[in-house]
Amino acid sequence: MKQIVADAEKAFADAKDERAVEDARIAFLGRKGRLTLATGMMKSIPKEEKPAAGKALNEAKKRLAQLLEEAKKRVASSPDAENAAIDVTLPGRKPGIGAKHPITAMIDECVAIFRRMGFIAADGPEIETVFNNFDALNTPQDHPSRDPRDTFYFDDGRLMRTQTSPVQIRVMKSQKPPVRIVAPGRCFRRDTPDATHSMNFHQIEGLYVDENVSLADLKSVLMEFAREMFGEKVAIRMRPHFFPFTEPSVECDFTCVMCSGKGCSICKNSGWLEIAGAGMVDPAVFEAVGYDPEKWSGFAFGMGIERLAMIKHGVSDIRYFYENDVRFLRQFR
Ligand code: PHE
Repeated sequence: MKQIVADAEKAFADAKDERAVEDARIAFLGRKGRLTLATGMMKSIPKEEKPAAGKALNEAKKRLAQLLEEAKKRVASSPDAENAAIDVTLPGRKPGIGAKHPITAMIDECVAIFRRMGFIAADGPEIETVFNNFDALNTPQDHPSRDPRDTFYFDDGRLMRTQTSPVQIRVMKSQKPPVRIVAPGRCFRRDTPDATHSMNFHQIEGLYVDENVSLADLKSVLMEFAREMFGEKVAIRMRPHFFPFTEPSVECDFTCVMCSGKGCSICKNSGWLEIAGAGMVDPAVFEAVGYDPEKWSGFAFGMGIERLAMIKHGVSDIRYFYENDVRFLRQFR
């Protein structure tokens, strides 16, 4: 028994890998292994010697089980074992390459189109002053959009901007005309979420200030944008509207891209899609930022990024953009 244990100690110590450990296990503990055979020999041992022999056998069994465990552990954690676990013949795993979120991609696309027309990108904070978001934009005290039921206010009086229009104010306060900027960014309104409303959404603002700017300039810029975004066949139209910070104000529609203007459920059979609010900068806004309204004229516009993305990609519910379900997002890679 002593000899078996001594030989086993050597065999397991010499075993360099899983294979060798298994060979040693078979040699000692397998069906025809030495310890197994020794167990079989117990029958032929004289009665008086049995207790001592049984004890020696049990101790040897325990010891060998321990040796086997130790050897297994040793080879499993050896660097050789780790290398052996790498099958170099397996095809490689493709690394997951990220992609732009469809909203980011749409912002980039819009900015690229306006850059080609000479606009540069401007930026403003999502937390704004009442002055920049409302007062300087000629918004009357009793305008419904100021209501705390529509706008998120902080205790210090600031607010989550409800539109990108305050960037117009920031830009004009910080530079002299001419101005030609677009300002994409996130806006917030206390809307009840549904298929077309979200408390957080994105707009892109445009502002053009120079001498002798006219509504025709506004129209040509929006026309060019429409064609670049949706194709040569898209027409635009302007309808009279009201915004406190533009005069005159218009709402600009593009031909419905779903039905090419024939009329469908998306455009409520009108053949048109409402895309942008716009107009000529109100002289009161120029006064608020210290521009001379007698000298300078300009136009401004604002569009919803989600709305553009929904139209462009045929997305039926705005909430898909914020759920971050990769099955949805993967479609835009
Ligand atoms: N800020 C307006 C809105 O959120 C859009 C707009 C921008 C209208 C610029 C006119 C000029 O509805």
